[in-house]
Amino acid sequence: MGLACISAIPIGKMTTEPIRFYHRGEVVAIDDASPTRSVLDWLREDARCTGTKEGCNEGDCGACTVLIGELPETGANHLQAIRGLNLYSVNACIQFLPTLHGKALFTVEDLQRIARPDAAATPAGRESIPLHPVQQAMVECHGSQCGFCTPGFVMSLFATYEAHRACGSQPTRQQLADDLSGNLCRCTGYRPILDAGQRMFDLPAVQLETGPVIVALRSMAGDAGFSYRARGTTADGATFHAPRTLAELAALRETHPKATLLAGSTDVGLWVNKLFRPLGNIIFVGGVGELKTIVDHEGALRIGAGASLEAAWKALASRFPALTDVWLRFASLPIRNAGTMGGNVANGSPIGDCAPVLMALGASLLLRKGEARRKVAL
Ligand code: FES
Ligand code: FES
Repeated sequence: MGLACISAIPIGKMTTEPIRFYHRGEVVAIDDASPTRSVLDWLREDARCTGTKEGCNEGDCGACTVLIGELPETGANHLQAIRGLNLYSVNACIQFLPTLHGKALFTVEDLQRIARPDAAATPAGRESIPLHPVQQAMVECHGSQCGFCTPGFVMSLFATYEAHRACGSQPTRQQLADDLSGNLCRCTGYRPILDAGQRMFDLPAVQLETGPVIVALRSMAGDAGFSYRARGTTADGATFHAPRTLAELAALRETHPKATLLAGSTDVGLWVNKLFRPLGNIIFVGGVGELKTIVDHEGALRIGAGASLEAAWKALASRFPALTDVWLRFASLPIRNAGTMGGNVANGSPIGDCAPVLMALGASLLLRKGEARRKVAL
């Protein structure tokens, strides 16, 4: 098999613009946040959406779980679109705000609005508090005690709910456990939460109205790369670059060889949160569609360096079913949704180590710097 991986990349002259994304029914524009401000800090401190919690601040506990919505043509290619929208969970504590540009952000605060059209169907006495079936099931199954982990569980279950509702299926208990692999609870125990995951499908159905979200995302979509620098910073302030094409990415890297390369930020987010390391200029590869492809190439599986871990493991497991257990035990679903196999190889991080499996499969890397390319055995 082959693993397409970028070794080096440059920063061109893209126009700096505000970060724009869809949040709670409208497109918000931000031009004064540091490029490394986390989505969680922005939610809690700026947007005052404090339903999303901070536990570990390093992508382990799931208290900060939020959902990202993307148009299928610009997002990860392994997801089943839900009424025209790709929807997946990530950990808000290690996502940088500019990575939301052109996407939709859903938090636990959105559920009440999604549930409101069916408010009359909620049990007597609860008419004034329309609960989403996920929340109602958590109440009925006693899935929460201190409640700190609950918004994160609810958002992971919401992703499961939407995915299964869209195709008319229901998850098995094991599938629910796999979907909740990124959520830790210290006091309730998992049985009532899994019960809630099954119970939510018995309650009157509601669904996310994706039409307005898709309209908003289309209004923000464009072919040009995105570049962001916080208003008020000096000329040498850090800049966040998000090229759209491989050629643009390669050219940017030639211009800025010391910039930090960022993909899913499941490692790099910790450099900021835990090590307080300044990142300088950032080149985000998450907008380069060519890097997200996973294709069969002359009998080998070619995995783009920007393909998510979830997409890459899914492709590997479909070719080598014995790897299914490795896939489902690798990190957690929100981490696999955000992180990339290319990033794991490039950073050599032992936190989630793809290398033993890839070496056992005889993987090679296709490296590029500027226009030069070379292939090396992993
Ligand atoms: Fe624990 Fe984000 S706060 S995963
Ligand atoms: Fe307390 Fe889960 S309800 S941590």
